Amino acid sequence: MLLSILIHPDSRLKKVCAPVDDLTDDLRLLADNMLQTMYEAPGIGLAAPQVGVLSRLIVLDCIKEEGAAPHPMAMFNPEVLAVSDETNVYDEGCLSIPEQYAEVTRPAEVEVAWIDRDGKAQKQVFDKLWATCVQHEIDHLDGKLFIDYLRPLKRQMITRKMQKLKRELARG
Ligand code: NI
Repeated sequence: MLLSILIHPDSRLKKVCAPVDDLTDDLRLLADNMLQTMYEAPGIGLAAPQVGVLSRLIVLDCIKEEGAAPHPMAMFNPEVLAVSDETNVYDEGCLSIPEQYAEVTRPAEVEVAWIDRDGKAQKQVFDKLWATCVQHEIDHLDGKLFIDYLRPLKRQMITRKMQKLKRELARG
């Protein structure tokens, strides 16, 4: 099932999300629907607050090569354990901030622990686009957007564009 994605500014995108204590079938279904919604958008990552659910769940798949096998991941309670001193710059976007992109500097490598959809504890080091994406999505769980890394003027400009877009969407 496709879910509707909240557009910034929305107070639900600014909240700190609650940990998942009990991995229910409802939450597994939510993860599956989030993946479907992400692929359809299309995007490479999506966090539960973006579909209005304030729980610590993210999904991602950063395989972009044409014809390559997909690698869908769902992470419950993802947590950054360690980051590299070395940094990377990517032109980031966000499904909640459509068609706006800006360069963000983040650690180039990041070690993340999470609970997978079978309830098993997982741990992995990510690099390149995966590292940026997983950090971007985990930020969402703490109410942080990529535009929060930008200069205030640039952030305000993007926010005004999104307010205008939301007015247009509301008019239909
Ligand atoms: Ni995002």
